Parts: sequence; structure tokens; C-alpha cells
Amino acid sequence: MSTHLQVINFSLTYFQNCYAFLCFLLVLSTCKLNAQDSTFAQGVIVSAHPLASQIGIQILKNGGNAFDAAVAVEFALAVCYPIAGNIGGGGLLVYRKANGEVGMLDYREKAPALASRDMYVGNDKSVKGHFSVGVPGTVAGMCELHAKFGTLPLADLIAPAQKLAAQGVPLTAREAKRLTKEQDTIRKYNTYTPCLLHPAGKWQTGDTLHLKDLAYTLAQIQERGREGFYKGIIAEKIVREMQKRGGLISFTDLETYRPTWRSPLVGKYKGHRIITVGTPSAGGLILLQCLQMLELGKFELGKYGFQSPKSIQALTEVERLAYADRAMYAGDADFYPVPYHNLLQKSYLRRRIADFSWEKAKPSQEVKAGSFLPTDSEETTHYSIVDKWGNALSATTTLNDAYGSRVMVEGAGFLLNDEMDDFSAQVGKPNKYGLTGTEANAIQPFKRPLSSMTPTIVERAGKLLLIVGTPGGSTIPTSVLQTILNVIEYKLPLRQAVQSLRFHHQWLPDAIQTEPAPRTLPAQTIQTLEKKGYKFMTRPETIGRVEAILALPAGKYQGASDDRGDDTVAGW
Ligand code: DON
Repeated sequence: MSTHLQVINFSLTYFQNCYAFLCFLLVLSTCKLNAQDSTFAQGVIVSAHPLASQIGIQILKNGGNAFDAAVAVEFALAVCYPIAGNIGGGGLLVYRKANGEVGMLDYREKAPALASRDMYVGNDKSVKGHFSVGVPGTVAGMCELHAKFGTLPLADLIAPAQKLAAQGVPLTAREAKRLTKEQDTIRKYNTYTPCLLHPAGKWQTGDTLHLKDLAYTLAQIQERGREGFYKGIIAEKIVREMQKRGGLISFTDLETYRPTWRSPLVGKYKGHRIITVGTPSAGGLILLQCLQMLELGKFELGKYGFQSPKSIQALTEVERLAYADRAMYAGDADFYPVPYHNLLQKSYLRRRIADFSWEKAKPSQEVKAGSFLPTDSEETTHYSIVDKWGNALSATTTLNDAYGSRVMVEGAGFLLNDEMDDFSAQVGKPNKYGLTGTEANAIQPFKRPLSSMTPTIVERAGKLLLIVGTPGGSTIPTSVLQTILNVIEYKLPLRQAVQSLRFHHQWLPDAIQTEPAPRTLPAQTIQTLEKKGYKFMTRPETIGRVEAILALPAGKYQGASDDRGDDTVAGW
């Protein structure tokens, strides 16, 4: 089916809501949506929802830059993509300005002042409910991003999201199904009837989510910026919500929350420069370690072939080593001395990969985190943006779990995160993503839980090449790694680089994790690897939802969104 037909077909099933349908037609006439294979010169946005991509493109058309568009998209996702888009969560982003300057903004949640190391020992309250919530960072992050780089008024960037919330959002088939599945938990973790609960318990495609309270909250932020969220009426509603069932967030926690500008983590891979996130994520560290080990180990992935047993073996072994280091060393570097320098040193990584063998798998039990002499020195969402000046931005934002803690602030209409589960609640005990950790990621007041988010930008020969990122918890770094290699090594067209099946190894459990059918590896590939001792495990859900933009010669760009979701490319 042609792209255009796909769009029309999609619109008919999706937009039973008349207003949204008219808006959609209007946008179709002025920019291309889900234009996977088209090229654009003026800007591209790839996000998890067609309305968010469309809102972002409109900001670019109004003269805004990539940073303005990011603010608009982030707020829009909080409205039309409640499973992960948020104002009650946090995120990480990297950018590369048209002049080559790079940076990172950390707007990840922090542990509240009353948090303590053993608060989840002997209970399961880190995953859902009021006690699992970290201090939200998204609104402060977006206000900070706008203050530094924005060119259009903040209120204008929030306006499309605010209007959307006021009018109500039609649900896609996927969202209706997912939200229906979550009705019981949403009921259980709220003391009232939030708007995400359907009166009959079942959402249908095209049903409208009425988000009046969220519209009110967004209007507060439009009027008063960060103070509209972290102080005054909305702060009161958050604290009141917390107090209902033992949540820890206080007025002071909200008032004192600040996002942090950081230097991105920068590495090299065969002539490419990789700009990715450092603390409080381990994602960039894993990505750079894997790429470095592949290069230092002189693996010739392109020659072995895309998803050939040799390619899978090489990737699995470097991932195993990197995730073992993650468990041992990674945490919020503001609180714990994460030895980035050592972990990324060539001599160290060369040693790590030195005993690689093509003959057989290396059991994870035999792999420990590396040692060196100290020197002194199920939901998230991603969007990628480039504007006509060539400013590029890669952002991943999350509530952690799907619909976060499930707690929706009464009267304010937004979900709160359950990001506290990303801490090592108990040393050695795996979290929701099967990740274990140590002291580096133990809970402390104001500390940020360790993330896997890996928003990344790749340069070639000093020029922008690729903007990439994805949700997927612990699988995020490996999905970003595979997408980069699909482009650089296997030379796949961008769409295929994003859509192809993915696999994942994270040291523990000791298995190559694969996606459910139809994204399955050929039986022969599996057999070849099983003979060498590799174990396979099929995950119940797909892996990641990659949003990528490729810079083409002559100032053109191409976007690819993941058909694992409703993800959409918009460009002009
Ligand atoms: O920061 C992290 O690594 C997790 N909270 C991300 C969660 C996630 O990606 C869930 N998505 N499928």
C-alpha cells in the first residue's frame, strides 16, 4: 500500500472524532505525515503519536527551531500519549546545534527528601502506587530548554497541547486496547475515578479521552512557567495526592527540583562521532562500550552479514560485558563516583574483549564486571527532531512503567511516574527490567535513579548523520546500538534499519532475548548459535520503538518511525 493510502486508511479508522479528523485533513494538505520514505529540507519530526508529530511540525512552520518544537512535542505527548508522554515523569535529551555545539539536558526525576536506602526492602511498593513516585522533572526540563534555546513564547508552544486536552483526544486502536488492559490497576491505585477509567471498563478505537483537568494544569504552566507546576495550586494538588496514600513528595521537593545541563558522553566508532547521554543513564555508557569493543576487537560486522550468526554472536558478547559493568558501576554520578574514564579506556575495553571466542558462548556466570586501578580522574517514549537550520535534538521521556505509578493527580489530570523502581531497591534483586545493581544505584534523597535511556546523535566527517532513540527499559541501549550498526555497518535503508527485528542480551538473565512472531530469527541462525551454547528467550512484547532521522547529502533529511506502534514521521 502506498504511503498516502496508508495514511488515509489510518485516518478513517482513527478519527471518528470529527474535529480531529478535520484537523488531520488540514495537516495532510500542508505537510506530509508518516512519510517514511520521503525526504525533506525544512525539518522532520518522528514521535510516538501522529498528533504530536503534527504539532511539532506546525511549530517549525511557524518559525520555531528544533528546541521550540521539542517543547511542543513533549507537552503534546503528555496529552495524546498518556502511556508514556508525561508531565509527571522525566527525561533526558541530547542536542547538536547547527554550528556543531553539543549538549545534554537531564530532567530526570529525583528521589524525594524523605526517600531512604531501604524503603522498598520487604515490600513491592517501588513499582506502582503513591510510594513509587519520584519528583517529576519534565515541566522544569522543558522550561529550562525553552529559556536557553527557545525563540517562540513558551505559552504558544504549550497551546496546541492545551487545546488538545481541552477538546479531548481520540484513542487509536492500540491505545484503546492497552488502556483497557490497565483499567484494574488504574482503579486500584487511585482513590477517585480518574478520566482514564472507562465507565463500562472497555475503551474502543476512536473513543475520546476527556482531559479537562490536564487542560487546566497546562494553562497554569502557560501562565506561570515552571512555577505553574512546582508551586501554587498544582503543587498543592500533587502534595495532597501524595498524602492520601503515603507518597513522599513535599512542597520543598517540588520547589527545589532543578534540571541539570550536562556534557554529553562522546565517543568514536570507525570515523563516526557518537554523542549520547552520560549520568544518570547507563545507556550511553553501554552504547559506547559496545561500539568500542566491536572496533577494538576488529569485528567486521558488514562482512559477516546483517543478523548472521557471527554478527549476533559478536553483539551478544559485547552486550554481556557492558551490562555486567552497568550493574556494578553505574549510578547517579552526582552521588557516586562512576568511573567513566576507566570504563571507556581503550586498554580496558581491549582487555575485556580479548578472550572472545567464536567457538562457544561465554556463560554469564563467568563474566563479572571488569576491574581496573582507579585513576583520578513497560513505557517510555522517544522523539527525534531536526529543523531547517540543522539543529538536531534527540529526547527520551518516561513515566517508567506504562502509565507510571497509575496514580493520577486528582484535579490536575496527569499521571505520576514510578521511576523509583529504577533504583536498586535491594542490592542484587532484579528490578522490573531484570536489572540488578549495587551501591552505585542505591536510593538516597535527591539522587536520580539509574536510567537506560539513550537519546543519541551520530556525526560523520563532522556533519550530522543520524538522530536516534527508543523506549524499552533495559533494551534501550541495545536497540540504539543495533539501529546505528544497521545504518553504518549493514548499510540498510533507514526504514529497514528501524523496522527490522531486534535482539538483546543484558548479561543476566543469560539469554539472547528476541521478539515475538513475526519478528523471529531464522530457525537455522538459532540452531547455529544454540550449538555454541547460546540460549534464547522470546519476550512477550516487541523490543523498542525506534524514532530515527537520517541526514542525507544536500541538506535533506529522512525520518523513520517504528511500526511497532502508532509512531509517525512528519516533515516539510
Ligand atoms: O529510565 C529508564 O531506563 C526506564 N525508566 C525506562 C522505561 C522504559 O523505557 C519503558 N518502556 N518501554
